[in-house]
Amino acid sequence: MTGMPATHGGEAGPPAPGNLPPGFIRAQDVLDEKFGPQQARMLDTRYGNEELLFGLNLLGLAGPFYRVSPWELEDEHGVRRINASGYAAVPFGDMPPVLTSFIRDFTEKNRAQTLPQQASSPWRAALETNLVRLLARELPSHADSQVFFCSSGTEAIEGALKFAKAWRPRGKFYISFSSAYHGKTLGSLSLTPNPEYQDVFRPLIPGALTSPYGDVGALSTLIRRLGPQNVIAVLVEPIQGEGGVNIPPPGFLTGVGEVCRRHGIVVIADEIQTGLGRTGHWFESAAQGLDPDIVTLAKPLGGGMTAVGATIVRHTIYKKMLGGLSSKRHSNTFGGNALAMAVGLRSLEYLVEQDLPARSLRLGRVGLERLRALQARFPRLFEDVRGQGMLLAMQFKPMVGVPLPGVLKELVFEATAILALREIHEAGVLANLSLSSKRTVRLTPALDIPEDLFGAMLDRVETFAERNPASRHILTNTPPALTARLAKFAASKPKKRTESDG
Ligand SMILES: Cc1ncc(COP(=O)(O)O)c(C=O)c1O
Repeated sequence: MTGMPATHGGEAGPPAPGNLPPGFIRAQDVLDEKFGPQQARMLDTRYGNEELLFGLNLLGLAGPFYRVSPWELEDEHGVRRINASGYAAVPFGDMPPVLTSFIRDFTEKNRAQTLPQQASSPWRAALETNLVRLLARELPSHADSQVFFCSSGTEAIEGALKFAKAWRPRGKFYISFSSAYHGKTLGSLSLTPNPEYQDVFRPLIPGALTSPYGDVGALSTLIRRLGPQNVIAVLVEPIQGEGGVNIPPPGFLTGVGEVCRRHGIVVIADEIQTGLGRTGHWFESAAQGLDPDIVTLAKPLGGGMTAVGATIVRHTIYKKMLGGLSSKRHSNTFGGNALAMAVGLRSLEYLVEQDLPARSLRLGRVGLERLRALQARFPRLFEDVRGQGMLLAMQFKPMVGVPLPGVLKELVFEATAILALREIHEAGVLANLSLSSKRTVRLTPALDIPEDLFGAMLDRVETFAERNPASRHILTNTPPALTARLAKFAASKPKKRTESDG
């Protein structure tokens, strides 16, 4: 011990506004809503993702939106909408009381160190235990699996790819599927076969290959051609979310499992979107008869309030990468921090208490039936509707009917989905586009949305359909000046702003 006097309390004293640089925005002002919506939008566009926010702003979708109830948001004009967006990462709506009250308790009572890097943490321990036990309840072979925490879905995938590679270090190939979406860091991006996201970053990680989704025969042929011992892992979404809600044919997942087991190839089930109830099951892969070696989770695990990603790995595979003196071979700073773990733990507990996967399956069936009825009533608007649980998708007929060449056709599909999203928004529902399907709009409401609001959401989609009985109306109902501005925006190149990106 040094002779330095111990200081306790650690209070720095009240803030000295004079110390803040000019233009510095105070947290308290944001909390007190002194920092207005126009200002937020303007600065976010100026200092953040300008092109994205500019486009959203043209469509009237840039927000910011404010919470009215966990399931409804309002814009700055006080227009209230049902929130069916959030890319499946908002399982209990916005600022759900179940989490806000728990976070209040946590901040008042928690004494466990908040950012454990190496020391054990009661919060992390509890969440690890519960996740493994939940998985093992569905898939007993996972009873001794282990968890690695991180802070996003893409990072959970990166971990999974590394675990698999360490297990088969001489392997050269990873296989994912057409229309897959696994994230946008370099490893996960390499297995997200979407040229728009991939092309500028080539070369990506070597040996990332694509097989047609839903076709076990094609996978089997590809593995045989590569030499099974050269294949590190097969990465599969049990239902593709960002790909436009693609449900594989029965037997596909069990087939993937059988082919891989035969050849000792690691199977990674990406449950980041499907897992924990979105599609009506705890683990969609297990529900479809697959027993994967690695399961990735993220989105709903943070309760829509914080960032939690998890890679759950069979014991033997886990030990291969993080065994012995190699236990720091994979690590991060924030994964497993106490606040994230505590919110994750309470979120998981609430999912269990309310049996939200079962509710999602039940309400989702009602939702899909209503969408199917709409499709039957408006066949010139809907090309298809599909879904499972609270993961529902609408695919629209292109709003321009004349036959077009490939690239233009895709553009028309994309424009149709974007303008449909706007029309649905006008009808009072916040919905999602899909990151790897340009044709679909998804509805992903909170799993605990009250039934009357769930019904109201579908009523509003019906209103949208009545207003646009054929897809060409999506175009004719869009104000021409807006269509012109959007077309100009779509045709414009991103502005050059700095030397480095110029
Ligand atoms: C199946 C799947 N995997 C991975 C990801 C990437 O997650 P994140 O956006 O948290 O990186 C997503 C995100 O949409 C996803 O749906």
